[in-house]
Amino acid sequence: MRRKIIAGNWKRNVKPSVTADLVKAVAEATKGFTNVEVVCCTPAIDVPAAVAAAAGTNVGVGAENCHWKESGAYTGEISTGMLLDAGAKYVIIGHSERRQYFGETDETVNLRARAAIAAGLTAIVCVGETDEEREAGKLVEVIERQMNVGLKDVTAADCAKLVIAYEPVWAIGTGKTATPDQAQEVHALIRATLAKLVGAETAETVRIQYGGSMKPGNAAELLAKKDIDGGLIGGAALKAADFAGIVAATNA
Ligand code: PGA
Repeated sequence: MRRKIIAGNWKRNVKPSVTADLVKAVAEATKGFTNVEVVCCTPAIDVPAAVAAAAGTNVGVGAENCHWKESGAYTGEISTGMLLDAGAKYVIIGHSERRQYFGETDETVNLRARAAIAAGLTAIVCVGETDEEREAGKLVEVIERQMNVGLKDVTAADCAKLVIAYEPVWAIGTGKTATPDQAQEVHALIRATLAKLVGAETAETVRIQYGGSMKPGNAAELLAKKDIDGGLIGGAALKAADFAGIVAATNA
């Protein structure tokens, strides 16, 4: 049985001064759901406040990116050691917004993911096709490439610290959600691709989240699918009640 994991991706929407309030509200609203892993991934500058507010609750804290070099002349970058030192336990890697706006490639996703896992962070590695890629019949090719290059040299042992998020780019922040069947089809493809990399037995243990306009109203039917083990939540993670509604849907 894979433990469900619901993670918020706050993107760039919450300032440090209001971080504690949102984390505390999330912790309060989700405290009854001890069988679900609940995570808030915040801007790096919010991490210390989030960690302090989450102390003693069921909420884990993560960041939204990390660099692969531990130290040195990399102006503006945040290392895995810095995140761990601040109390983060998770980090999102390769979100489509980073691929789209910040030059992230499958190769840099691989460097970041391996560095995060080696440091002991849980890496939430994002994959997903654009509308154009899906329309052009390239869904399988794109997902396989993102998996094969992005997870190159990730071992079966590393998979204890790996979560994959399937986020169809056309569904992010658009209100368009993949249907449960569409999502399940790609989750199964992701698991099959992972099985070729690390073995079927290990692939069965890795959680695969769905992300893209997930909300309380559509979460239960997505989470009921065989290979959908959680959600990576953008907009709905900014309201504790909505986020908690998705956490609650894991029990449906
Ligand atoms: P959304 O974002 O829930 O606002 O669509 C999901 C994500 O980008 O992780």
